[in-house]
Amino acid sequence: MVSCLVNSSFILERELLKVSVKGESTMKESLRQELYEMTKQWMIEAGRYIKKHLDEPLHVATKSNPNDLVTEMDENVEKFFVNKIKEAYPEHYIFGEEGYGDEIISLEGIVWIIDPIDGTMNFVHQKRNFAISIGIYHEGIGEIGLIYDCMNDTMYSAKRGEGAFKNDQQLAPLKQDISLNESILALNHRWLCKNSFIDEKVMQALIKEIRGNRSYGSAALEFAYVAEGIIDGYIAMRLAPWDIAAGMIIVNEVGGVTSNGNGEAVNLLTRNMIITCNAVLQDTIINDFMKKGKK
Ligand code: IPD
Ligand code: CA
Ligand code: CA
Repeated sequence: MVSCLVNSSFILERELLKVSVKGESTMKESLRQELYEMTKQWMIEAGRYIKKHLDEPLHVATKSNPNDLVTEMDENVEKFFVNKIKEAYPEHYIFGEEGYGDEIISLEGIVWIIDPIDGTMNFVHQKRNFAISIGIYHEGIGEIGLIYDCMNDTMYSAKRGEGAFKNDQQLAPLKQDISLNESILALNHRWLCKNSFIDEKVMQALIKEIRGNRSYGSAALEFAYVAEGIIDGYIAMRLAPWDIAAGMIIVNEVGGVTSNGNGEAVNLLTRNMIITCNAVLQDTIINDFMKKGKK
């Protein structure tokens, strides 16, 4: 059974539990539709709140390192969702970045995986290029993925098996035949500097192969842009469950794949190296670069 304790923070190393965005689920369709519509409304409401208070002075604190920022806005937005969810669905579990939800040690039951502001550094410095990200999982299967860029009023959404959308427009399936040298990949500078995970020289070779690279500073938006087809893939060294829970579902709905750096299923209870793109690019990037450079 799920064990949940209120107000505990994310514990890094846990028993491996593989998650899936595919498979058979027993979530009732009426409940799924209700959650989908309700959550979108809550996200729009939270977005209005963020925009209303955007120009007020912020208290910026740091978490794991001096560049890992958190503001009262991150906390207030997460509390907003926790209050709404606990009132409407007291039997559901919440896995939120800021720790106002439950302590999650398995994905049994219905679990909301929430990043109240993904791209906090952008939020603080730029007041744009951030998003609210919510993935709803049932028995480990991703049912609903929602990423809301409130500054542009753009909602990326998907329900498992029903396609992905940018606002009301259905996103086209990803092209499966794009070669590496025609690709734009999102990745940040860490891959190219000395690091403990992967030989930077191998990744420098990857950069030379591709057409171009981008770094948006919001994992959720980077997943959304892969789904939209405006970038061809996104790789990240160490992402938390809330960075990717919604994006994985949305990318899957346009025929994309998401895995760790070994090509294995992502473990949504801990941090993972992440690659999301079409299956052909995934195979090339993992086998010709990531595995070769692995430390
Ligand atoms: C961060 C962003 C960033 C990624 C970091 C994440 P946060 O999330 O998604 O793009 O590179 O690894 O932690 O802290 O802004 O929610
Ligand atoms: Ca995040
Ligand atoms: Ca965040």
